[in-house]
Amino acid sequence: MTAGEETSPLHGNPLEAGLRLRRRPDPCVLVIFGASGDLTSKKLMPALYALASRKLLPEKFAVVGAARSVETDDEFRDRMKQAVKEHARDPFKQETWDELAGGMRYVTLDFSDDAAEDKLAELLTELDKEHGTQGNRMYYFAVPPSAIATLVGEIGARRHAEGWVRLIIEKPFGHDRTSARELNAEIKQHFTEAEVFRIDHYLGKETVQNMLALRFANGIFEPIWNRQFIDHVQITVAESIGIEARAGYYESAGAIRDIFQNHLLQLIAITAMEPPIDFTADSVRNEKVKVLKSLHTPGPKHVVRGQYGSGFVEGEEVKGYREEDGVAPGSQTDTFVAAKLFVDNWRWADTPFYVRMGKRLARRETTIAIQFKRAPHPPFEDGAAEGLRPNVLLIHVQPNEGVSLAIGAKVPGQGMTIRTVHMDFLYGGAFREGLPEAYERLILDAMLGDATLFTRSDEIDEQWALVDAIIAFWQRDRPMFPNYAAGTWGPASADELLHRDQRSWRRH
Ligand code: BG6
Repeated sequence: MTAGEETSPLHGNPLEAGLRLRRRPDPCVLVIFGASGDLTSKKLMPALYALASRKLLPEKFAVVGAARSVETDDEFRDRMKQAVKEHARDPFKQETWDELAGGMRYVTLDFSDDAAEDKLAELLTELDKEHGTQGNRMYYFAVPPSAIATLVGEIGARRHAEGWVRLIIEKPFGHDRTSARELNAEIKQHFTEAEVFRIDHYLGKETVQNMLALRFANGIFEPIWNRQFIDHVQITVAESIGIEARAGYYESAGAIRDIFQNHLLQLIAITAMEPPIDFTADSVRNEKVKVLKSLHTPGPKHVVRGQYGSGFVEGEEVKGYREEDGVAPGSQTDTFVAAKLFVDNWRWADTPFYVRMGKRLARRETTIAIQFKRAPHPPFEDGAAEGLRPNVLLIHVQPNEGVSLAIGAKVPGQGMTIRTVHMDFLYGGAFREGLPEAYERLILDAMLGDATLFTRSDEIDEQWALVDAIIAFWQRDRPMFPNYAAGTWGPASADELLHRDQRSWRRH
């Protein structure tokens, strides 16, 4: 942020809102393609409501929902109101809602229909007049990649000189490296990289950004953040939910495309990157892409895949993946992936990054564990430090957001017995304001034109390169699925991956 960007005291106090002090975005219209989908009702609209209640939205603002289903403006508003009541993190206030809903419209749109596009263009001009949105447009693509290409072409062709245009593009960005490149090429015919905001919502999570604060705002971690002091890194993205009603998408994605290709690789990039020279979009992304480029393609022995069978999750009996609605009875789709990865550079050479992610695991937990090497020579009597584990810095991305450092401490009493204890920082205890949802941060950043927390085309390209290589060797054999019961921590082969190195997954 530069001087002069502070928010006017007339428009609320964003500091109290737990968001850093920033200027208010320019007037604009936000168009959401895919407005009838779950993302809009569960995440986007509640995020807009949270921004509205903190007075962080532009003073002149309108939202257009666009989707294939037929709906009137009023029906759309009613549905969104219900969604906000159900999913927003703040209690519902009619006054805030009225302000947001005042600029809310809906348009039925077949994405390949020119006439419908014209209707949208007309509506946007009308909104400019009614709401003073000055021709500024933000298009949010919550639709499959195939629809994005068509829409981007249409929007690009209708682009006029007045106002700015920004595109927010949801994942999945393409289905593989080739299709992602094609999509990028289509986008780049009409838009510059600075106008494109590719979402990886993990980057909008407070705790993921806190990794940057932890590493680069403290002098004590960076000197030991390397192969000399770190034994290995473990990253877990565990979900207890199944695929919900998303079989259509998930069958063609699997855990490898759904989580590994994006969220997981971004967590590695943030953990392993070099300090950027500043916190601008290009400096940060330049460093992340170097990590993604240095990721060594793992051999087949270093990647494990799994699919859940039936079981019990948090006390409740649940179906196996193949029994879920819309899933083929003999489906070979992966719902779990574990891998041993190496970042081939000076800082990390030979330091394994063990990662695992999956659906229907024992519980929801995303953590990054930095496991340090053992103390070289504990000078205590034999047995004194038996219960002592190596130091671990544990970043709790979710839930129970915070950071915890495992250290050895003397057990009180005569003699010298050492045990592992934890020094904890919990967001809930340290800060009064609840954590903003990732989408609040990301929508606001895009409105402000700040792409730091969005993925650049070269990052996506590197991510797909690695995933394509893994999928290519998976194609050679048929896995024995299902191979883990719902409610467990994945297949036995995931444990073996670490046991082979005389290590084990962090205990839960
Ligand atoms: C999405 C995936 O990107 O992330 C979902 O498509 C997954 O399958 C979700 O459930 C997890 O996000 P979060 O924020 O709940 O960890």
